[in-house]
Amino acid sequence: MLGTNLIEIKNFHVSYGKKLVLKNLSFHVKAKECLTLLGESGVGKTTLLRCIIGLKRPTNGEIFVEGENVVEMDEEKLLAVRKKVAYAFQNGALFDSMTVFENLALPLTEHTQLSFQTIKKRVKKELEEFDLQGTEKLYPSELSGGMKKRVGIARCMMLKPKVILYDEPTVSLDPYNTANLVKTMLKLKKKGTTSILVTHNMSVAMQISDRIALLSEGKIVAIGTPETIEKDYNVLLKNFMKGIKGGLSYEKISH
Ligand SMILES: Nc1ncnc2c1ncn2[C@@H]1O[C@H](COP(=O)(O)OP(=O)(O)OP(=O)(O)O)[C@@H](O)[C@H]1O
Ligand SMILES: [Mg+2]
Repeated sequence: MLGTNLIEIKNFHVSYGKKLVLKNLSFHVKAKECLTLLGESGVGKTTLLRCIIGLKRPTNGEIFVEGENVVEMDEEKLLAVRKKVAYAFQNGALFDSMTVFENLALPLTEHTQLSFQTIKKRVKKELEEFDLQGTEKLYPSELSGGMKKRVGIARCMMLKPKVILYDEPTVSLDPYNTANLVKTMLKLKKKGTTSILVTHNMSVAMQISDRIALLSEGKIVAIGTPETIEKDYNVLLKNFMKGIKGGLSYEKISH
């Protein structure tokens, strides 16, 4: 069952210099929900995720995480938000000079007082969760693309965040690794982790999302359950998938 609003975005505008990228967005994400953002390249999906953890400030508007406005926070408060809301970067953002163990241990050594033995146990447990047992001593360059992504997500989970932001997690993965990653994401969802997923992969979106939001020209043009989106916004979706620029910018089309 979905809970209360964990993230709330209100009247949100973001610009880079004079260029207005996101225009008056308002939406929420409920606890335990997975909301997927679909939209053409450059529409501002990554920008939105970055704003949620305070890496970029909006021009106007508010973002509430558990009722607290991120937009007004100083760096110290933002650090607390980033423990609650983890950002799974597209390439996993692993440190190449560190082993898998060191990469996973890092958030705990930096942000907790846990003993080395406890950290070792936590890393082992997390690696098992992600089907990565035995990879402790490997360096990122020794991992496959799919494994790297799973290590990246495993590292995000080390501080037990409430929310995870996935930025195109399955991009450049083959169908086998995509299916594996989807399994991992569904497992986290089942455990109650809330998420925002940015993807261009419709099949992934359909499997994981509770709701899907279609973005076009800086605005949300449709939002609803996968079934609603598929049924009521079929033409928009087809245009998006065919790569028709601005294809999502039409009004709702009914059949
Ligand atoms: N640091 C920056 N400085 C200036 N403009 C930027 C910056 N980051 C992003 N932009 C611009 O903002 C717009 C949105 O970029 P963003 O990366 O959020 O898009 P996106 O929807 O994530 O695209 P993609 O699907 O290709 O990842 C783009 O036009 C981009 O050029
Ligand atoms: Mg992006």
